[in-house]
Amino acid sequence: MDRRQYSTWWQRADLCYQAGQLYFAGRAVRQLAAQFGSRTFVYSFARVRENLNRLRQALEEAELAGGFSVLYAMKANRFLPLLTRLQETGLCGIDACSPSEVELALSCGFSPADISFTAGNLSRADYEQLARYEGLFMDCDSLHTIRTWAQHKPGAKIGIRINPAAGVSREANSTLQYAGKNVTKFGIYQEQFDEALTTAAACGLTVTKIHFHTGCGYLTPQLDQLEAVIERCMWFIERCDQLERVNMGGGLGVPHDASDQPLDLHQWARGLKKHFSGTDLHLEVEPGEYLLKDAGLLLLEKTMVEQKKDTLFLGVDAGFNLAPEPAYYQLPLQPVPLELGNGQFFPMRVVGNINEAIDVWYDESWLPDMEGQEYLALINAGAYSSSMASNHCMRGQFKEFLLT
Ligand SMILES: Cc1ncc(COP(=O)(O)O)c(C=O)c1O
Repeated sequence: MDRRQYSTWWQRADLCYQAGQLYFAGRAVRQLAAQFGSRTFVYSFARVRENLNRLRQALEEAELAGGFSVLYAMKANRFLPLLTRLQETGLCGIDACSPSEVELALSCGFSPADISFTAGNLSRADYEQLARYEGLFMDCDSLHTIRTWAQHKPGAKIGIRINPAAGVSREANSTLQYAGKNVTKFGIYQEQFDEALTTAAACGLTVTKIHFHTGCGYLTPQLDQLEAVIERCMWFIERCDQLERVNMGGGLGVPHDASDQPLDLHQWARGLKKHFSGTDLHLEVEPGEYLLKDAGLLLLEKTMVEQKKDTLFLGVDAGFNLAPEPAYYQLPLQPVPLELGNGQFFPMRVVGNINEAIDVWYDESWLPDMEGQEYLALINAGAYSSSMASNHCMRGQFKEFLLT
C-alpha cells in the first residue's frame, strides 16, 4: 500500500503517537477507551486553556487602546464542567444565543454582565425571560428586536448586529457563511441601518455596540476576505456617534485536513490593529470553534470491516447524529487509529450506524489493518458535536468527560 497517503498532519505535543500508541492530553487513548467505552467525548481542558491564551496573546499584540474581551460562544459546547472551568479562569465571558444558554451560563458562575446575547428571531417568551436578567447585554438582529427590547428595557444600551453583505468562512464552503451574496436572516443590512438608528433613538435606546459575525472556519488564506468584511463594517461603525464596542463575532477556524494550515494569529492581529488600535473602541471576539474544536476526541467502537465493490467500509457504533458537522457542513472529522499497527495503511470509508445515506464519517481515510483494534478516535470533536447531537434513530446516547 502507498504509505504516502497516510498523514498525521494533526499531530501536536498533546495529541500524538508514542511508540505506536495514540496519546491525548498525556493519556493513552486506548486506556481512555477501555475505561469510558464507546460513544464518548473526551475534552482536554489544558488544550482549551492553551487556545484561549494564544488568542488573548494575539489580541494583546493588536495594541487596542480600548481593550478587548473574549466571549466564548457556548453553542459550540455547553458541557457543564467545561463552562465552570472556563468561568474560573476569569479570562472570558459568554456569547449566548438562547435564554436556556443564559440560564446554564449563570448556573456555572457567570453573571449577566459577563454575557453578550446575540438575538436571533426571538419569541415573546424569550424576550420576557431575557429581560429578567439585569445587566445582560442585547445585540439586536432586526428592527423588530430593537422595538421589542425597548418595551422591556426602556433607556437601555444595545448593540446592533449588522449584515455587511459580505462574509468570511472556511474556503469554498458557502454553507458556513452568515452574510454574503445570498440574503440571510442575520443582522440589519445597510439599506435599513439608518432606520435602525432612528428607531433605536425614537425608542430611547442608545446604540453602543456594532456586532458582525459573518461566517465560520476561516484560516490564513481567508484573512484578506476578513479585511474586506471589516472595511464594509466601518461604514456602519462611522454612523454611530455613541459607540463603545465592536463585536467581530467568532469564525476563527482550525485545520480539518492535511491541506489546512493553522490560522496565523499574528497576521490576524495585525489586521485588527490596523482598523481598531487608533480608536478607543473595545473589541469583542466570540470564538467557539477556535477554543474548543481541537480539544476534543470522539471515541467509537468498530462494528465491522467489509469490502463492497471497490470500497472497503469500516463501520463504527455511532453516526452523524452525534457530531453532525461532517454531514451537514462537509467539515471532516478525521478518523485516527489508536494504534499505528505494522505500518501498512488501507483506504477505508468510515461509516456510522444511522439509517441515512448521509451517514458517512469520512469518505477515504487511510487506516491500518483494523483486525486487532476495537476502537477508533475522531479528532476535532470538541465543538459543534455533542452540542448539536440529536436522538435520530434513538441512537442519541453519549458520554462526556473533561480531562483536567
Ligand atoms: C453570533 C455568533 N457568534 C459567534 C459564533 C461562534 O462561531 P465560531 O464557532 O465559528 O467561532 C457564532 C457561530 O455560529 C455565532 O453565530
